[in-house]
Amino acid sequence: MYLSKEEEKLLESDNETIRKAMEILVAIGKIFDADRLIPVKSVQISGISYKNIGDAGLEWFESLNAKFVIKAMINPAGMDVIRWKEMGIDEGFYRKQMRIINALIRLGADKTLTCTPYYFDSLKKGDHVAWAESNAIVYANSILGVRTNRESGISALASGIIGKTPNYGLHVKKNRSPTVIVDVKAEINSSADLAMLGYSVGEKLSNSIPYFIFRNSIEREWLKDLGAVLAAKGNTALFHAEGLTPEYGDFEIDSLEREVIDELEEIEFDCEPDLIAIGCPHLSSSELRQIADLLFRNDKKVRKDVWLFTSRRVLEENEDVARKIESYGVKVFADTCMVVSPATENYECVMVNSGKALTYLPKHAGVMVKFGDIKECIKEAYR
Ligand code: F3S
Repeated sequence: MYLSKEEEKLLESDNETIRKAMEILVAIGKIFDADRLIPVKSVQISGISYKNIGDAGLEWFESLNAKFVIKAMINPAGMDVIRWKEMGIDEGFYRKQMRIINALIRLGADKTLTCTPYYFDSLKKGDHVAWAESNAIVYANSILGVRTNRESGISALASGIIGKTPNYGLHVKKNRSPTVIVDVKAEINSSADLAMLGYSVGEKLSNSIPYFIFRNSIEREWLKDLGAVLAAKGNTALFHAEGLTPEYGDFEIDSLEREVIDELEEIEFDCEPDLIAIGCPHLSSSELRQIADLLFRNDKKVRKDVWLFTSRRVLEENEDVARKIESYGVKVFADTCMVVSPATENYECVMVNSGKALTYLPKHAGVMVKFGDIKECIKEAYR
């Protein structure tokens, strides 16, 4: 892999964090046969919940001594940094989680803890980033036409310190070509339908770049849920959707194999929810407004625990909406989510509208799950 003189000097840096960051990028570049390093506009670092990384991860973050040279964003943590007590988080966990967050902020990371960095980064088709959160990777590649590989938290962090990533994989246009057509004849009426579609075909499409054809009109925002579940069930990092995603017309597809989906699979999840958790990936402003409207139509307090998850930035931009939602007994938390927080483990059955949460919650929180779209989730809240 070609390295400029400046890049070679970084491999000899007196600063251990910089030297190690450069070594990581060079090692990855060699493994994947990258020709050189290329600049990236931003990084997004996953794996920062104390629940997942424990004391070893905390000590590692605190040992780092450098500054990010580009925009660096971080994934949700294990709690709402302000309302952690309301989530049932104990003080020991809170303190350790804050040390991890503060270590990253000292390196220069943005304070918004979110898995939806795409709402806050002005990027255009063809830009390069190094993101680690799997739903964000698919969103960037597919819906924005921005290029990123599936980074790990460590490689994204290294890219933040160096400002570059090895040029291979999805950074190279020819590697972004679809590999299979998925012809969806089943009617798709909501993001939950797309989540279910992704849930049933995600494993099968794991190592491919699907080209979706939908027969009825799809809202672009729904694709967020499709990408999230495809990345959770398999390794998908990019899909194209005819007429919807920015690169769908850039490739030849005539010779591709075709998977036909005539009907959405009915998947039965049967348990009695004691928590309804919405916001995987983090809710957007319009999703928050949609939930507020549904609650307003019922106009009474919910009868079950309902937790919504969003980024602090979206929360601050929608204070009135959040206040209205909370007046119905629903909690709107920021900085965290139902999967990376230990708080969910206090429940037995969690109802979600997300294929990704459906995939991860039984494994990561040891709870049973039930699935429904946003309307069904809110209906359940009044049962
Ligand atoms: Fe985000 Fe947590 Fe889901 S990080 S994509 S809300 S699992």
